[in-house]
Amino acid sequence: MSSTQDLQKIIAGRRAAEFVQDDMVVGIGSGSTIAHVITALGERVANENLKIVGVPTSEKTRRNAAKLGIPMYNVDDVDKIDLTIDGADQVADDFSAIKGGGAALLWEKIVAFNSRENVWVIDQTKRVPKLEQYLPVEVIPYGSEQLFKRFTADGFHPTWRLDQNGNPVRTDSANFLIDLHLPVIEDPRALGEELIGMVGVVEHGLFTDVVNQIVIGHENNVEIIKAP
Ligand code: A5P
Repeated sequence: MSSTQDLQKIIAGRRAAEFVQDDMVVGIGSGSTIAHVITALGERVANENLKIVGVPTSEKTRRNAAKLGIPMYNVDDVDKIDLTIDGADQVADDFSAIKGGGAALLWEKIVAFNSRENVWVIDQTKRVPKLEQYLPVEVIPYGSEQLFKRFTADGFHPTWRLDQNGNPVRTDSANFLIDLHLPVIEDPRALGEELIGMVGVVEHGLFTDVVNQIVIGHENNVEIIKAP
């Protein structure tokens, strides 16, 4: 990643952390952009005595936020989530997104759909007219070879998500990930419904009808767009 892109993640992440107010229950996303949100929130907790409760979208986020003094609760231990701030891999003009590059898509989707408001933080390289990046799908390990064959037969060009030792990546729910390599995704809702209807698929990385605002880091400024 270029240092310019990293800078865009930093300024956007710090700006998004300003959305958080006292007494909020905050869903905290995963990934390198959200790492800057977590840092900024930790600073606000320490310096401004900001009183919040965090709900993590991954074990890594839980650990990193807790280290900075943010009290972390499981999604089932809170009554409501006021605001979730998360990253994304691509965001299209219709406000659909691909998420899951960091393997956290399942918890991210659960937290997002239980949140009153959702904000995504991205650098400008992630804005696209239509989604067209690899699409992560979280699958139950049992029977996943069969599912992989079906994805191949359906023309989805699947690959296993592997770690540096060549073993399947395990998500925080101990599932596998299969990445689909598709051309431009013309209808994310329809594709999402097709995938979720396949036995063995736990969740997919298409996020539609969920975001309220997008915070975009540019070279010298931060742009905030409200979804319709
Ligand atoms: C995690 O599974 C993802 O959905 C991340 O939110 C997404 O991959 C963005 O990550 P970066 O901020 O590291 O690009």
